[in-house]
Amino acid sequence: MARSIIGGLVGSGVSGNQFRVSDPSSEQRIRLQEITDLNAFDNNADCIAGCDIVVMAVKPQVMEEALSSVDSLLKAQKPLLISIAAGILIKDITRWIGEPTPIVRVMPNTPALVNCGVSGLFANQLTDEQHKSTAQAIMQAVGPVVWVDRESDIDTVTGISGSGPAYFFKLMEIMMDAAQTHGLNPEAARTLVLQTALGAARLANESDVEPGELRRQVTSPKGTTEAAINTMENEGIDHTVKAGIQAAIDRSEELARILGDG
Ligand SMILES: NC(=O)c1ccc[n+]([C@@H]2O[C@H](COP(=O)([O-])OP(=O)(O)OC[C@H]3O[C@@H](n4cnc5c(N)ncnc54)[C@H](OP(=O)(O)O)[C@@H]3O)[C@@H](O)[C@H]2O)c1
Repeated sequence: MARSIIGGLVGSGVSGNQFRVSDPSSEQRIRLQEITDLNAFDNNADCIAGCDIVVMAVKPQVMEEALSSVDSLLKAQKPLLISIAAGILIKDITRWIGEPTPIVRVMPNTPALVNCGVSGLFANQLTDEQHKSTAQAIMQAVGPVVWVDRESDIDTVTGISGSGPAYFFKLMEIMMDAAQTHGLNPEAARTLVLQTALGAARLANESDVEPGELRRQVTSPKGTTEAAINTMENEGIDHTVKAGIQAAIDRSEELARILGDG
């Protein structure tokens, strides 16, 4: 995820000498330096010394350890801290640092890897407008951003766009499977389904009308699409998808409790 963000920023014209990265793995540091000529450190404290923005892009399980390696610097420098770790609450980040800090919590998604992500952002009360526009500019390197008013809304962002790519991948799997059941070869099934998904997403994004209206426009009375949609609705597609999203939101809340030691 860090590589995607750095790649997006470089692509939007930010020069490598504005970044410093830290990673314990030399292999990862080399991969990061392949993106652009940046300073890479094997030590978090050396990396963030003098920095005014720190992006924490480690797995949630190692956030406490990574923060504790730099807590005295964070207390002294008071940089803007941006966390992209899923399920780590601002109160836990603050507790691990040891004192209140300006923090923006971000929930990105994997299409950031192809510069087509979307992120939900929440800022704590210690952030000012400059902090918020900085966080927004960084995350916009990999796609649009949406600000939310409450930290708990990040759980909803997780259930919608964080986990959302998998819902669309699942639909692709189902459609490819159906195409093959009806006799198409795997390559034909893949081309038809993936291009249909891409086309529908682009049409919805580039059109002035809402997805529901686009659907109605392609649903002729007594036609094939109407037959499909009626059957899907009668089989409970609305309930199934909404129940799945609710399960993701519930799990996000639960993980935050577990990762933050309750
Ligand atoms: N991937 C997604 O779609 C997605 C979506 C939303 C949010 N996120 C969040 O983004 C964060 C990063 O995810 P990712 O998939 O990019 O993880 P990742 O590939 O594991 O990247 C994390 C990097 O941090 C390094 N690291 C581990 N411990 C460290 C430490 N103490 N100090 C400094 N660096 C350390 C890791 O090195 P080693 O490999 O050597 O351990 C690894 O290179 C996660 O918190 C995740 O919840 C990801």
